[in-house]
Amino acid sequence: MVKRCSLCGASAVTWIPESKQYLCAEHYLEYFERRVLKTIEKFRLLKNVKKLLIAVSGGKDSTVLLYVMHKFFSREINLVGFTIDLGIGKYSRESTEIAIRNYKKLGIEYIVVNLKRSYGFDIDDSVRFRKWIKRPPCSICGIVKRYLMNKVALEINADAIATGHNLDDLALFMMSALQGGKVEELTKLTLYNPSINGFVAKIKPLGLVSDKETLLYALISGLEFYEEECPYAPQRGLRTTIIKALDVAENNHPGFKRYFVLNMIRRVIPKLPKPQGRIMRCAICNMPASNNVCSFCKIRARINEVIQKYRNK
Ligand code: AMP
Ligand code: FES
Ligand code: ZN
Ligand code: ZN
Repeated sequence: MVKRCSLCGASAVTWIPESKQYLCAEHYLEYFERRVLKTIEKFRLLKNVKKLLIAVSGGKDSTVLLYVMHKFFSREINLVGFTIDLGIGKYSRESTEIAIRNYKKLGIEYIVVNLKRSYGFDIDDSVRFRKWIKRPPCSICGIVKRYLMNKVALEINADAIATGHNLDDLALFMMSALQGGKVEELTKLTLYNPSINGFVAKIKPLGLVSDKETLLYALISGLEFYEEECPYAPQRGLRTTIIKALDVAENNHPGFKRYFVLNMIRRVIPKLPKPQGRIMRCAICNMPASNNVCSFCKIRARINEVIQKYRNK
């Protein structure tokens, strides 16, 4: 039997277990946008933001983020898209192209940084020379993204950086940090990270909508996004187990992830000691750092050294 939208009677595209409603395409888009706008309003994510750097990988989350921010805020906020070509073979080439096509389609100003061209190395190099670098690509990639987002935001005087992290990402990070007793990491897992020690503020407008909800929004809206996962994403291990455990909890108790993340943000994380960190400047690049030389400059120097030494081996 065709299911009908609980609001208008048109044929339904989805069931929302939390509110026990069937929704048609049009009402689903409204539902999703309302959730994102409510998150932005409740957590005051755009307070005093006149210029916003939107970090876009070309995947579904950041593409939806770009689209929604453009739809509702392009008149009052100066939106600038930002994409890093990380040099992960076809994955980076195609996702960067898609991000650029979306910027052009929406008429959004944008900046693309090619890691190899600008800094002499890329993520594929870190894999090729893994034997000497001895660090997983994802950890290097994380350092690169954090550094370049902040650097570019400072250069263009952006008031905040928006990322496409969704509810599933937050629930996973929180569980992993809890399991590992990583209190300092937990304190950063909020929807709004204020500007501190020279780092630009960061916001996660999609932090209370799930992976599935974001995918459905992208599909119904006909957005172009890159569908494949990064080839270096870990396929096994504790991370995968936690994802599965969270999915079981959500299936048995609809809304579990949202309550968990909201309770952490509202009741647990505010009670944790605030990270103190001193304001330091990297001796090489002059960007804010927690040591004499920032993690990006350290890893950049190491990989470039290894490339020079072992390029013919
Ligand atoms: P990830 O670390 O891949 O889970 O991505 C988290 C968020 O970081 C995405 O939603 C984007 O906002 C941002 N991001 C990831 N990759 C890139 C990239 N290559 N360029 C710009 N932003 C990115
Ligand atoms: Fe960074 Fe996969 S996206 S290693
Ligand atoms: Zn409807
Ligand atoms: Zn540096």
